[in-house]
Amino acid sequence: MDVVLPRRRERFDDRRKESAQRKLLDQFFDHRTLLTISRLISQGQFDSVDFPVATGKEGGVFRATAGSEFRAIKVYRIGNTTFRNLPAYALDELRRETSVRDFAGLIYAWTRREHSILGRLTDAKVRVPMPYGHLRNVLVMEFVGNAEGGAPRLRDAYIEDPEAVYRDLVDQVGRMVREAHLVHGDLSPYNTLYFEGRCVLIDVAQAVSSAHPHAAELLTRDLTHYATFLRRLGVDVSGEEFAHAVGADRLASAPAGG
Ligand SMILES: Nc1ncnc2c1ncn2[C@@H]1O[C@H](COP(=O)(O)OP(=O)(O)OP(=O)(O)O)[C@@H](O)[C@H]1O
Ligand SMILES: [Mg+2]
Repeated sequence: MDVVLPRRRERFDDRRKESAQRKLLDQFFDHRTLLTISRLISQGQFDSVDFPVATGKEGGVFRATAGSEFRAIKVYRIGNTTFRNLPAYALDELRRETSVRDFAGLIYAWTRREHSILGRLTDAKVRVPMPYGHLRNVLVMEFVGNAEGGAPRLRDAYIEDPEAVYRDLVDQVGRMVREAHLVHGDLSPYNTLYFEGRCVLIDVAQAVSSAHPHAAELLTRDLTHYATFLRRLGVDVSGEEFAHAVGADRLASAPAGG
């Protein structure tokens, strides 16, 4: 007995330590999400999840390895806080698109939506991470970065040629509006990565059709964020000039995208 008991206590301490570590991981990888990850692995989407790139209240982005390449895995946390910061119009749109009413169902629909918008943008040759697949609350996409790590956000990047960034953003957002008929709705130097001197637009799930009643207003706000940032870098551009350059004037007559 006196041999068994101390061992039990040890095991208990071990378990407590383990459980503290697990709590951290559990925030993202609850049982269901782990099953989803393992199913994606058996589908051949990737071989392993390597490390977190960014974690927030609503989810996390992790680097994964797929053969000799990397992937970015975006995991939406299933909970009632996930949509807290979502604009009402986006949630309305989602509810119209899907018949589900529970949080998990809405989050799966949201993940599917981000995947399909990334697909539309890739088709229109807008620079975004290419989508590779999705299952439930997990999205698999191209990893923007290299073996050293993920690309910095535009906000944090060292920018040698701000004018070139402006031209690149006009090109990317212009393509998004004219070719993909979409307005992002949450563009800023935070939702833009800067990799090898070029901008990559991310976090697209809340994008709306350019025929959406809020489209013009959302585009103006997106471009104002960029213009404010660019002016601080010495680029002489106003929100109106930016809007004109991306062809926002034609928004009202743009065809309705799906
Ligand atoms: N494809 C990718 N490749 C590399 N890094 C990425 C990729 N997608 C996202 N990231 C990293 O993860 C962070 C969060 O991604 P994203 O903006 O899509 O998620 P989010 O849930 O909206 O997070 P946040 O609330 O911080 O904006 C990004 O700022 C970026 O650093
Ligand atoms: Mg974001």
